[in-house]
Amino acid sequence: MNKITVIGAGNVGATCANVIAHKDLANEVVLLDIKEGLAEGKALDIWQTSSINHFNTRVVGSTNDYLKTKGSGIIVITSGIPRKPGMSRDDLIKTNASIVKEVTEKSIKYSPDAIIIVVSNPLDVMTYAAFLAANKDPHKVFGMAGILDTGRYKAFLANALGASPSDIHAMLLGGHGDTMVPLPRYTSVSGIPVTELLGKEEIDKIVDRTRKGGGELVSLMGTSAWYAPGAAVSQMVEAIVDNQKRIFPVCAYLNGEYGIKKLYLGVPVKLGKGGVEEIIEISLNADEKKLLTSSAESVKKVMKVLDDMNLFEE
Ligand code: NAI
Ligand code: 2OP
Repeated sequence: MNKITVIGAGNVGATCANVIAHKDLANEVVLLDIKEGLAEGKALDIWQTSSINHFNTRVVGSTNDYLKTKGSGIIVITSGIPRKPGMSRDDLIKTNASIVKEVTEKSIKYSPDAIIIVVSNPLDVMTYAAFLAANKDPHKVFGMAGILDTGRYKAFLANALGASPSDIHAMLLGGHGDTMVPLPRYTSVSGIPVTELLGKEEIDKIVDRTRKGGGELVSLMGTSAWYAPGAAVSQMVEAIVDNQKRIFPVCAYLNGEYGIKKLYLGVPVKLGKGGVEEIIEISLNADEKKLLTSSAESVKKVMKVLDDMNLFEE
């Protein structure tokens, strides 16, 4: 991949650009922000680690000059405001929807074939907004949340088990919010179902902490997380660039899968050079189905706020 653009040089965007460069996933990473000098400064700072950390990816900054992003294969959208204490993800929608629309339209103009990965919150609805603004195949527009959420879930499980996080495999469904649906039935430790290793009460506590994982960090730091989100996006970028066909929970466009239509929601997908190459439908029991339906309902409520803004009317 020659060029990857990251829009928004704040906490998540800069971390994401930094990890992409460290992994040498592209010839060039363009970091773009609306704040004068911010992206240039952070790009220069990252590039100055290249001889120390041994990578070749050129990191270039831009203050709102989309010409520099021309010909990107992937565009990561992190621009917008993060959640502050007391603010729900849903409160962010009005500000962030306009920003996501604007940056998507400007990026697509210079990189019409790019795959778009959305990070801005509220994630599921912002991904829909980027899809509408980009007006392209939904397999090429999707959002990052599930890798972060399962990353948190796995970290909590690793602590409880005294095990290596690398041995834990897990799947999660639903929206990026307190209604997300971690799936203990689809969680294993080196092939051993987690339900064999931990009691129900302990698993329930971990599931609950995972659901509130974003809020926990906001209350500790006064703003939302960036190390794990930046690393999670980079893992998606790597799967696309190297055509890895990895299976991750991704915020993808559903058109009948899981009985849900015309909604972006977290589901297991296969990620490769074509973007979302397959949506994998796993079987769910009655309780899991109920939780997924309720998560979809809560995303639909936020979608209604987006619809009522009439941002995408002809
Ligand atoms: P931040 O405030 O550190 O960075 C956001 C950047 O976007 C700022 O530098 C700002 O100048 C820039 N920006 C605003 N409007 C812009 C525009 N029109 N064009 C270009 N740049 C613009 O925020 P942070 O912590 O990086 O979070 C970014 C977004 O990602 C937030 O919406 C946050 O809620 C979301 N997030 C999502 C996660 C997920 O799992 N999907 C995880 C963590 C954060
Ligand atoms: C997170 O989960 C707030 O979406 C952000 O950290």
